[in-house]
Amino acid sequence: MTTAPSRDIAGALGGSRLFAQPEHARLVAQWRAFLATSRPILLEIGFDHGRRLTHTAAHHPDWRVAGIEVRRRRVDEAKAWAAEHGLPNLLAWRADARTVLATATPAGSLSVIEALFPDPWVDPAHRITRTLVDPSFVADAARALRPGGVLHLATDVDDYAANMREALETEPSLVLDPTAAALRPRCEALSRREWRCAQDDIPIHRFWLRKRG
Ligand SMILES: C[S@@+](CC[C@H](N)C(=O)[O-])C[C@H]1O[C@@H](n2cnc3c(N)ncnc32)[C@H](O)[C@@H]1O
Repeated sequence: MTTAPSRDIAGALGGSRLFAQPEHARLVAQWRAFLATSRPILLEIGFDHGRRLTHTAAHHPDWRVAGIEVRRRRVDEAKAWAAEHGLPNLLAWRADARTVLATATPAGSLSVIEALFPDPWVDPAHRITRTLVDPSFVADAARALRPGGVLHLATDVDDYAANMREALETEPSLVLDPTAAALRPRCEALSRREWRCAQDDIPIHRFWLRKRG
């Protein structure tokens, strides 16, 4: 599980084989320990200012809440917030969610995976590819979910929404189900982009999926 992925992950932070590198063993072990629980677990990918992450952890102590974000400053802020508020159920990790799901997450570990407004662009100048949602990501997310688990995606970019829909249709274990929204622990905080869309009346494409079983 913590060995190299069977495919390259373009532009991955630290490279596709991050979890084959000994210096990451401690973080991977910490992640595996965090997942080893009968409690429900939510993973937020790309949490940015972290208001949904921290709000969810604070209001749902019976859940374990993990956030993965590539931006160091955001991760440091979330860690500081968790320490200040004494939240042992929150884990913030600087990593590439694609490699974490593909190489470090046991099958059937997570109750909810959420990725709101993932970057819709590729930056060839910096060799960064962060379009996140493609068929490989969807397959990895589906594998990581517990039976009955929930995948929640959102974007306000029409083309990306179409790509997301196509990618989601390649995964037979996931079914579109708007009622799955009720299974996510309640959160009144908005992500940065959700807030912007609400302010400017920008329509949002949302996908709620449930894993069969
Ligand atoms: C467009 S922002 C959206 C932030 C927030 N979710 C929102 O709704 O406003 C995308 C976020 O995902 C993070 N990100 C991009 N690729 C990522 C990856 N592969 N793994 C984890 N975080 C990623 C970025 O650093 C950024 O904070």
